[in-house]
Amino acid sequence: MTGSARGPVTGVGRHAERLAADSFKDVMGRFPTGVVVVTTRWRGGHQAMTASSLTSVSLEPPLVLFCVERRASFHDAVLGAGAWAVSMLSEEQSTMSDRFAGRASRTRRDFVGLEHSHGRITGAALLRGALATVECRTWATYPGGDHTIVVGRVLAASVGRPDGRPLTYWRGRYRSLNPTDPAPRPHNPDNDPPTADPPTADPPTAGPASPH
Ligand SMILES: Cc1cc2nc3c(=O)[nH]c(=O)nc-3n(C[C@H](O)[C@H](O)[C@H](O)COP(=O)(O)O)c2cc1C
Repeated sequence: MTGSARGPVTGVGRHAERLAADSFKDVMGRFPTGVVVVTTRWRGGHQAMTASSLTSVSLEPPLVLFCVERRASFHDAVLGAGAWAVSMLSEEQSTMSDRFAGRASRTRRDFVGLEHSHGRITGAALLRGALATVECRTWATYPGGDHTIVVGRVLAASVGRPDGRPLTYWRGRYRSLNPTDPAPRPHNPDNDPPTADPPTADPPTAGPASPH
């Protein structure tokens, strides 16, 4: 790894700035992720935010992290609460992702009409139909540019749907892992055009390649 925690890892000066502006979202959007809803109880109410930045960090102690944009309304709630839960969405739950990403109408960002339970340790909402859930207490936070990196100590973990398939996000669209999809053929740099997109049957979903 080159570069400091505060500066760009590659490139210097004007070139690095142009890279960030023009290409960063497009490049990072090519990294496929799962989609989760992070929830917290704050000031007597439930708050939630869709996130794709969940990462497993450590086994001993068990730690996970996600990144939250500093200007998101969820930011101060989750940092203030100090405890939170993660619901890993299944491929049928893209409407929940939209709902808690603020893509649905404002009035539908709450939990009204949404089947959920409450974590026994954190009290945070756990979405019914999620593949798996974890409950966490904030273990550390780190500055991450316009985001805050929130590391959580996992206090409880549970698989809700052992055979469910995940909602995935790649290049600005929701995708599903379809077991009947043929394995992609190996890339042949001599014959394949450099910008060819793999075929997909998924309907397009509005949004940038990188959601945040
Ligand atoms: C698939 C997907 C993944 C997202 N991942 C993150 C994330 O990891 N961190 C984040 O801060 N925002 C993420 N967002 C955006 C937030 O969900 C959204 O900006 C936020 O809910 C808006 O909150 P606000 O209206 O309170 O500002 C994601 C959105 C989508 C659709």
